[in-house]
Parts: sequence; structure tokens; C-alpha cells
Amino acid sequence: MRTNIIGVIGAGTMGIGIAQIAAQSGHEVILYDGSEKVMQNARHQLQTTFNKLVEKSKMTDQDAVAVMNRIYFVDHLQSFETCTLIIEAIVENSLIKKDVYSKLEPFISNDCILASNTSSLSISELASACKIASRFIGLHFFNPVPLMPLVEIIPALQTEQKHVETLQQLMESWSKWPVVAKDTPGFIVNRIARPYYSEAIRIYEEGFADFATIDYAMTSIYGFKMGPFTLMDFIGNDINYAVTHSVWESCFYESRYKPSFTQRNLVSANWLGKKMGKGYYDYSKEMPLPKSDNPELIQNIAWRILVMLINEAYDALHYKLASFEDIEAAMTKGVNYPKGLLAWGEEIGKQTCVDTMNRLYANYKEERYRVSMGLTNYNS
Ligand SMILES: NC(=O)c1ccc[n+]([C@@H]2O[C@H](COP(=O)([O-])OP(=O)(O)OC[C@H]3O[C@@H](n4cnc5c(N)ncnc54)[C@H](O)[C@@H]3O)[C@@H](O)[C@H]2O)c1
Repeated sequence: MRTNIIGVIGAGTMGIGIAQIAAQSGHEVILYDGSEKVMQNARHQLQTTFNKLVEKSKMTDQDAVAVMNRIYFVDHLQSFETCTLIIEAIVENSLIKKDVYSKLEPFISNDCILASNTSSLSISELASACKIASRFIGLHFFNPVPLMPLVEIIPALQTEQKHVETLQQLMESWSKWPVVAKDTPGFIVNRIARPYYSEAIRIYEEGFADFATIDYAMTSIYGFKMGPFTLMDFIGNDINYAVTHSVWESCFYESRYKPSFTQRNLVSANWLGKKMGKGYYDYSKEMPLPKSDNPELIQNIAWRILVMLINEAYDALHYKLASFEDIEAAMTKGVNYPKGLLAWGEEIGKQTCVDTMNRLYANYKEERYRVSMGLTNYNS
């Protein structure tokens, strides 16, 4: 493998995690951020992480010193000239990202791969800002990077295929689970997961149940690790709302992805979730118990959200956003779903899912409940 020296641009939440795992996988890492304060914090945070790994006997003292010594904290883009792969993880703004690529490209070799960790921007659009567009690719890690195995590899229209294979092999050597996704809004995970949030909010808005009851339905009936409202508060309502808005907008206002007033109001009120102490829940108080113990209601809520997720997963398959196996891996390894949604659909019966979608559609007459062609057509 010729990807030896890894460059990371942006030393925030994601950049630090990527630098850590690249160095732990034996690479020399060149880390840069536009802010000096962020760089100091990154050095401190990485040192603290390695110290903790030593304390927990997950790393020897010598290894911790060696890994830390493999990370070079630099203050100029010129320092990236020896890199064979550079991963950009700066602020989610296409103009700022493109500006960095144009400043970076004159310093780096022509065969250096340039990857972006963007969650929502078009990879083909970012590639078009590069002098050598064929070297550009999406490489989407999940937070926290050292713990989440999934990485989405997203070739742009312009990307040379050999870079996909190079990154697949490299990610495996970092003990990650690479999946290949089409360059479409939200890629795999952030697209298929939308109904987990939006259908839960819809059920709440219609007055069927409170947040705690809906959360309880998903954790107790199907074994999701966190209910939708707890999860949105954990992710941050600002981030979750921004992803929903961006997927909706970039899918040409597809009604299935329409954001909700409920979440927009939370963002406007600065009730961003756990990080602010308040979101759907008030974290200064004890967590509320579910208000309803009606087993039929709880079963119906969980079923409706699950079928919407399965419908979305089959839609992704129908439009070939990724392979069957990669869609399954994405949802179990990127967001910890208890089972792959496609196999889940087969297990409970695709016709049963189709019937539920059709019932919802007949009831609401809304496009959001349109049954996917994938669900009716796909035979495994
Ligand atoms: N946080 C997540 O959960 C998550 C998950 C997957 C992908 N992403 C994506 O990863 C990227 C980074 O996200 P993050 O959460 O680490 O953000 P962050 O705000 O923690 O860090 C971004 C860093 O970029 C730096 N920066 C901004 N402009 C710069 C420039 N011109 N040159 C150099 N550095 C610059 C900032 O100083 C900051 O330290 C974004 O594209 C985001 O969409 C985030």
C-alpha cells in the first residue's frame, strides 16, 4: 500500500479522531487547522487519549510515545507535500472547503488522493473545484471516529475507480468497515435514517404519544439503543435539523424528507439537546417515564417507524445508492441499528410492509407514505 503519510486538514471533533486512528494504524500523520488554539487543543486531547489508553492497558507506554511522535502538528499547507492521502475535515461549508483545495493543490504531488469527510455536500461539486478532479473522493467517517467502524467511500462522477479500491483496502487496514455509496444527498446512513426522526416527530405532532413513550416503543419493542428523541438530543437538534434540511433541499424538496416545525422551534429556542442541558428533554430533571402503557399503541408506534425505515432502505436499494450488503452494514455499523433493514423487511414480510405503507397512504393521501418500488420489486 502506497498510502503512507496521511494528511488531515481540520483538527476539530472529526479531524482529531481521524488523526488518532491513522497514527495508531502505523502512519505518519500531518495535522493542520486554521486556528492555533484548535491545534493546541488537538495536541492536548490526543496526548490525553493515549495516556488513557495506557492507563487502561490498551497500549504500552512506548507505543503511546511512538504514536504521538508520528503526529506532526503543522501550521502551513506546504507541509502536506509528502502526503499520499489527505483527508479534509474542516467546517461544513463548500466555499471554504473549495478555497482550501485551491490553496493546497499547488503544494501536493499529482498522485496524492484528496478526500473530504463532508456529511452533506456533493462530492462531484467539491471535486469540480480541484485542478485534478479525478483524485477527489468522499471519505465519510462517523462520530466518534475511533469507536464507529463504518466509513462511507463516495466516488464523485470524476473520481478514478482505482482510488475507491485503494481506500477500501486502506480502511480495512485501519480496522474500519468501508462501504461504497453513490454521490447522493446524505449518502447511505444519513438518508436511510431520516424516518427514524421524522416519523417519530410526526407521531408526536399528531398527539398520539409523548417523547418518552415513542422512545420507549423503539427501545423496548425492537431493541434500538436509543429512542429517536433521546438520539436527536444526543446528536444535537441543530445538527440533526441541518442534515434533514439539507437532504430535503438537495433531493429537490422530496416531501418524505420535509423538516418539522417541532424541531425547527427547538433550534430557534436554542434547545439543542444534551449539550445545552435542554432539548426534547430537560436534563436538569429526572427523565420522564412513558405516559402511555397501552401495549397496542406502543406496538403501533414502533411498527409505523420501522416500516418507514424499511421502505427507505428498499428505496435506496432500488435506486442503487449502494449494494444490499453495504446498506445492511451501513445501518448496523454506522448507527448501531439492531438489524439490517433489508433483511428485517424480508423477515417480517415485504408484503406486510407494503400493506402498512398503503394503509398510511390511504389514510393521509401524502407522498411521504408512497410505497417504494424497491419494496414491491426486489427479490433477493
Ligand atoms: N461531527 C460529526 O458528527 C461529523 C460526522 C461526520 C462528518 N462530519 C463532517 O466533518 C467535517 C468536520 O466536522 P467537525 O464536527 O469535526 O467540525 P469542527 O467544528 O469540530 O471542526 C472543524 C475545524 O475546521 C477548522 N477550519 C475551519 N476553516 C478552516 C480552514 N479554512 N482551514 C483549516 N481549518 C479550518 C476549524 O478551526 C475547526 O477546528 C464537516 O465537513 C462535517 O460535516 C462531522
